[in-house]
Amino acid sequence: MNNAFARASGRPATRLRSRSALISAVVGLSLAATTVVVTASSASAATTLGAAAAESGRYFGAAVAAHKLNDSVYTGILNREFNSITAENEMKINALEPQQGVFSYGTADRIVNHALSRGWKVRGHTLAWHSQQPAWMERMEGQALRSAMLNHVTQVATYYRGKIDSWDVVNEAFDDGNNGARRNSNLQRTGGDWIEAAFRAARAADPGAKLCYNDYNTDNWTWAKTQAVYNMVRDFKQRGVPIDCVGFQSHFNAQSAYNSNYRTTLSSFAALGVDVQITELDIEGSGSQQADTYRRVVQDCLAVPRCNGITVWGIRDSDSWRSYGTPLLFDNNGNKKQAYNATLEALNAGGTTPPPTTPPPTTPPPTTPPPTTPPPTTPPPTTPPPSGACTASYTLDTWNGGFVAHVRVTAGSSGLNGWAVNMTLPGGTSVTNSWNTQASGNSGAVTFRNVGYNANVAPGTTTEFGFQGTGSAPSGTPTCNAG
Ligand code: G3I
Repeated sequence: MNNAFARASGRPATRLRSRSALISAVVGLSLAATTVVVTASSASAATTLGAAAAESGRYFGAAVAAHKLNDSVYTGILNREFNSITAENEMKINALEPQQGVFSYGTADRIVNHALSRGWKVRGHTLAWHSQQPAWMERMEGQALRSAMLNHVTQVATYYRGKIDSWDVVNEAFDDGNNGARRNSNLQRTGGDWIEAAFRAARAADPGAKLCYNDYNTDNWTWAKTQAVYNMVRDFKQRGVPIDCVGFQSHFNAQSAYNSNYRTTLSSFAALGVDVQITELDIEGSGSQQADTYRRVVQDCLAVPRCNGITVWGIRDSDSWRSYGTPLLFDNNGNKKQAYNATLEALNAGGTTPPPTTPPPTTPPPTTPPPTTPPPTTPPPTTPPPSGACTASYTLDTWNGGFVAHVRVTAGSSGLNGWAVNMTLPGGTSVTNSWNTQASGNSGAVTFRNVGYNANVAPGTTTEFGFQGTGSAPSGTPTCNAG
């Protein structure tokens, strides 16, 4: 139990701790005594979603529309029940950069400040997406788009540096259907490595935020799209691409129904070494059917220690993007629905004990082939390994005033047990951040050395590092030495 959450819940941490102590102390007593326990337990159960989630160190959030913050029923529920916010539309690319290079943060700030002033978390949604691009970006392709996208990521993540708990760095980059392919978008056409480039730029701009990949129809473990995202995250973790979490939108309806393998999905991704978050939950339906599904979703999150929290995509049914499906926890008048009671009960039930150990996946490991678009990894060289100790080459993502360099170190025929790459940067250029390497300085002649985990490179194979800089991009050929 952390004190921040205790504060958010309005209940002191000591009281929460003593609640579990009380329950343990009376185990084994008579039936009459058990009655006392039940009474004591229910008397101290949290009465709001945020407080109940905080019992197990989780958050319970809502997607919020800025123009509704003047609606007292809406804001009354928001302030009472939730302790995390996602802007429903106000932090999307078209909202924050309506003209290229002209940023507009006022409306988004209203939402962010509403959360931060109350000690809540903010989920940033979203830095790079094929949808809700401003018209100027929709028209772009190729290198110009890649640069504009990276600049957007860098500018926005820098502006909000230190304020965002988790960023949806990339949203909805995979195709629907059974092929497990990437979605064909203008961003994808800039090259298959656009996703990892976005993550690297976000890490450079806000090293303290958790960086998430977020998508829908990735809840069912057997679906090809789920497996394709899983393969990407596994690849990113293996290659050191900075990803910290995966968001499961979890928009459930008849076409994309909740499945009991949802817990397997959450725990399987968590086993890759990332947090998992339920980011846009809504469940079409009504009555006990809807309530039962909400209960199961909450239980699944509580069963996975790395499931950080749940966000519902709106507050009242009338606030939902699909209000016809009455998918939320409050009715149009702001009254609590059966689904609300089930959600609160499930959160309270899970909050009294530490989350159980995640069971291993019960279904076989993924069998779906990787996406049909070229994977972001560079294929192994077809030429024999260089005869010297190593060689280095790089590619650049540039924009007006800055760049990201992706550097590949290829070991010669003896392999490497440590390496150093020397680059001379143009005058006025400086390195602002680097990853998978230790840089000797930030301007002029800079030496980039291996870090502990990428010192050893087998003969003819490669390892990658990168850095971000301001000013002109480097143009010379780097040299590489062993040791
Ligand atoms: O605000 C304008 C209004 O002035 C105008 O008259 C009206 C006419 O169409 O449009 C209004 O903007 C709409 C906006 O929602 C605010 O209501 C946009 O057209 C509409 O496209 C936009 O829809 C949003 C949708 O994303 C866009 O893709 C939904 O509110 C929002 O809930 C939804 O959220 C997405 C997540 O970002 C990603 N995952 C799926 C989820 C649901 O689609």
